[in-house]
Amino acid sequence: MRWWPRTIRWQMLTGLVLLEALSICLFATLLVRQQAHEVHQHLLQRLAHQSTSMALQASEALQQNRNGWVGLSVQMMGEAPSVSFAKVTDPAGNILFVSEGEPEAMSLDPTERAQIASLPIHDPIVFSFAGNRWEGVAPILTGNDLRGYAWIESDPAWDYAQLNSVLRSTVVFGVIWIAASALLVLLMAGSISRPLAILHRGTRALMNSPEGSGNFPLPVVVHNEVGELIEAFNQMVASIAEQRAGLNDTLSLLDSMLANAPIGLAFFDRRCRLVRVNQVFADMTGVSVSRHLGRTLPELLPQPTAQLLEDTVLRVFSTEQASRNLELSDQSGKTGRPWTWLASTYPVRTNPHEVRWVGLIVLDASDRKRSEEALRRTEKLAATGRLAASIAHEINNPLEAITNLLFMLRNYCDLKDPALNYVAMAEHEALRITEITQQTLRFYRQSTLPTRANMGELLDSVLSLYSVRLNNAGIQVERRYDPALDLFCFSGELRQVFANLVGNAIDAAAGGRLLVRAHRSRNWKNPSESGIRFTVADTGTGMEPEVRERVFEAFFTTKEVTGTGLGLWVSHEIVVKHRGFVHLSSRIAKFGRAQGTIFQIFIPDDQTLAATPSKHPHVAAAV
Ligand SMILES: Nc1ncnc2c1ncn2[C@@H]1O[C@H](COP(=O)(O)OP(=O)(O)OP(=O)(O)O)[C@@H](O)[C@H]1O
Ligand SMILES: [Mg+2]
Repeated sequence: MRWWPRTIRWQMLTGLVLLEALSICLFATLLVRQQAHEVHQHLLQRLAHQSTSMALQASEALQQNRNGWVGLSVQMMGEAPSVSFAKVTDPAGNILFVSEGEPEAMSLDPTERAQIASLPIHDPIVFSFAGNRWEGVAPILTGNDLRGYAWIESDPAWDYAQLNSVLRSTVVFGVIWIAASALLVLLMAGSISRPLAILHRGTRALMNSPEGSGNFPLPVVVHNEVGELIEAFNQMVASIAEQRAGLNDTLSLLDSMLANAPIGLAFFDRRCRLVRVNQVFADMTGVSVSRHLGRTLPELLPQPTAQLLEDTVLRVFSTEQASRNLELSDQSGKTGRPWTWLASTYPVRTNPHEVRWVGLIVLDASDRKRSEEALRRTEKLAATGRLAASIAHEINNPLEAITNLLFMLRNYCDLKDPALNYVAMAEHEALRITEITQQTLRFYRQSTLPTRANMGELLDSVLSLYSVRLNNAGIQVERRYDPALDLFCFSGELRQVFANLVGNAIDAAAGGRLLVRAHRSRNWKNPSESGIRFTVADTGTGMEPEVRERVFEAFFTTKEVTGTGLGLWVSHEIVVKHRGFVHLSSRIAKFGRAQGTIFQIFIPDDQTLAATPSKHPHVAAAV
């Protein structure tokens, strides 16, 4: 219904007005019908009575032969407000007297004339004629003689006036009644619709901005059921806000855990598609977080790792059991560099009967794996070092005997050339063996206290250790240092630094030159400090800028199989331990530039150097 109002106030008002108007119309109709019936009855009685009374007066006058009184009586009756017309006729129906006009000019209507035939001799009758006109007629008798008839015609306006007055009263009453009720309804509807409007506005505000609490609590403007409803609504909103705050706290906690946990986290749906991952997981796969969503593992990881992980996830969906520490690795380096992950999967339920998602926790065990590998290798090297040292040590005794015997041969056996020459050659070679064993022993033995050590000897020992590899690589070594240069330091550890640098230079070069330089210098960052500046420069491949930036990181290596990536990290640590610093410059062959790498190290000559033990005993042994 288009016309039906949309507010409670106007709905109540319209409904009430319609209902009351309808009932008042019904009431008025019944009343008018009843009144009309009564008015008609009165009309019949009145006409009968008036005609009889006029007939009696006429009869009286006729008996006394006073015919003029009859005319007078007719005229008086005609004056009555309910009478429209009065007349007297003779028994034949000829008009004798009329209340208005000339009797001679008038005659009876056929309907009136027809009544004369059926009129009882003593009683009046009332009849209607010419539509809605009513007339009463009574015989005029003197004794038993019929002297004529007295006719009284009713004035319809008189009867209608009565009905109209009833109708008017009903209408006035109805209007007053409806107006009073409407006023009452308006007042009552206001007390319902106003708080309801407040409630409605509050609900809309809550819908439009569920977080905003500016409109609440809603004012309680009435004290009835609607007021109680508003109070209950306020309480409900407050409790929802409280719950939402709790939920937000929990979500923030979970989000921060997801974002900051140092482990990869991912969630899968039943079709093994990723629904959520954290940044660490995205870093592991090398794809941005947003590009994970909706994708499957084979789209992100190399086979067969992806397949293995996907099977595990599907198994968790079917068995609803968690699985722990599945080791996954990709040694192909297709995703950047080889990695090893430890993956655990577990079911995530949103209700006790259904596993909605499967969660995956991934721990990047690559560094651990690599350090285990490095440890294994360094342990092997350490063992080899120990073995070499003990062999060198064992060789020393028979070597000493051989040296003594050769001495005796030369001095007491009176040998001649060429035998003497052979002994001299043997002595020379024995001396070389002695040097080698001593160097080997010195190299292995670590000083745990800083001492003043000869740097010339130290650099010589490193270069002689690598002499075979340097020769094989065709590298020409240029030594620029004073053999008498000495420094207060942990000599074993410094030897390790230079061994690392020389080893790297050999790895990077094929032919070319290697410059090893050392000279007394001042700290170029703090000129009041004196020490030694070492330079190890090669003409090898050089480094790309992104490699150069990372060379001092532990486990960073470009030598996939042969390198551990610990050499420069350890070297840097050792230099820092000596309160020194390293400067690196490196260039690759580009635009015809010379390529190569230069490491410059400044070590202060510091007598106060702490006598702390080496932090890297295993690495020291490895070199
Ligand atoms: N002289 C050099 N020329 C070119 N690249 C070098 C040089 N020295 C180091 N690098 C680069 O720096 C990386 C790290 O060197 P670092 O000595 O720390 O590890 P590594 O030599 O790879 O392995 P490790 O020394 O543990 O066997 C090397 O892999 C190499 O790429
Ligand atoms: Mg190295």
